[in-house]
Amino acid sequence: MHRESQTVLVLGGDGYLGWSLGIAIAHRLGDKVVLVDKLVKRVWEKAVGVKVLVPLARPSERIREYERIYQKRNLFFEKIDLLDPKATTHVIRKYRPAAIVNAAQQPSAPYSMMSPKTAAETFSNNIVSHLNALWALAEIDKSILYIKLGSAGCYGGVNTDYIPLTKTDFSFEYGGGLRKIVQSWLPMHATDFYHQSKITDFLIDDLGADLWKLRVITVQQATIFGATVEENHPEDHRGLITRFNYDHVFSTVLNRFVCQAVIGHPITVYGEGSQRTGLMSLPDTVNSFLNLLNLDVGRGEHRVIHNYTHRLSIGEIAESVRKLRPQARITYLKNPRRETESGLAKQIEVHSSLQEAHNEKEKKFLRELEIMMGFVERYKDSIDPSIILPKVRWER
Ligand SMILES: NC(=O)c1ccc[n+]([C@@H]2O[C@H](COP(=O)([O-])OP(=O)(O)OC[C@H]3O[C@@H](n4cnc5c(N)ncnc54)[C@H](O)[C@@H]3O)[C@@H](O)[C@H]2O)c1
Repeated sequence: MHRESQTVLVLGGDGYLGWSLGIAIAHRLGDKVVLVDKLVKRVWEKAVGVKVLVPLARPSERIREYERIYQKRNLFFEKIDLLDPKATTHVIRKYRPAAIVNAAQQPSAPYSMMSPKTAAETFSNNIVSHLNALWALAEIDKSILYIKLGSAGCYGGVNTDYIPLTKTDFSFEYGGGLRKIVQSWLPMHATDFYHQSKITDFLIDDLGADLWKLRVITVQQATIFGATVEENHPEDHRGLITRFNYDHVFSTVLNRFVCQAVIGHPITVYGEGSQRTGLMSLPDTVNSFLNLLNLDVGRGEHRVIHNYTHRLSIGEIAESVRKLRPQARITYLKNPRRETESGLAKQIEVHSSLQEAHNEKEKKFLRELEIMMGFVERYKDSIDPSIILPKVRWER
């Protein structure tokens, strides 16, 4: 299908997902991509005392490497603090993009549970930056497509097997009579402050679309696993590697398990391991966002996409890693978090843009794990085991 090239702003373009998405949009679609980031995650990592698997060069150097490898000049960087409304408006006005992907947030539940300061920082960062982007869109150009990263963890405390994940009418009995709540999202429920911030910004998306007739997609994204996409997987593309956290604060579960298995550290399951989580590989996640850029979303419409392919318990995830490293040992730690056994529903309607990722997904899963393990093996000597075990507890 022929498609005119366009300009896309990726907020959070120095991040795990934002960088992967930025290089994929620029390389595969040929769009002009502007990565917008304050580089604050690098500051948070230092403050917490953790490091990434492969150190990241400055954005300008990473972009030069992209230009060298792909012989293209369509990737740019702007250092912007999205908490600054003027700077946010300025960058959107300067580039007048066709679409904005907002992946610029504090993305860690443990970080949000460390102290009153980090909880407040998570709320103010995640909500104010998002509000600034919506205000800027409303003032500059309401036809810009705004794709916001949500989280499947918004359903953390809800048994989604029995509740539709769409805006709908709810009936229930109360005080002897039948009551109705009309056109409501299901009562989402967080079990940490990070996910509470994601629930709040989900509702802000809904309000922004309705109030100002914006075109908004919220992607209720499941946990992402993997380290590379096709642009940065080859060994000689090291300069294009994305951020890969494997520590107890910022890493997602499967990335951490793979690092543990590769260095012969026991795989540490929190609790009994029966809590379920939605999962999606980094390549599938990136592909799905490439499709979402073409989604026809009307003015005033808030489209919600549930982005996941797999749904496994933490114990099953650990066992999958052990299939590839049979010598790996699994140990069970007292769960530092508050987690329930629910998670994404078994029967969630999958958007047509995601169908491809669901084809033969069981077979694909072990292959995807193998690819990640191969990548981690390359850098296993730089893994620091002292930053893996949990130190942040939910209980007070
Ligand atoms: N990684 C996952 O498994 C996962 C799962 C579900 C949802 N998400 C969501 O996806 C998005 C991206 O997550 P990630 O894992 O890539 O995180 P990340 O921390 O690697 O990237 C986020 C980037 O945003 C930047 N940023 C944060 N606040 C900013 C601000 N005020 N101004 C400018 N830049 C700012 C950071 O510097 C960082 O580079 C987040 O919204 C997260 O909640 C991620």
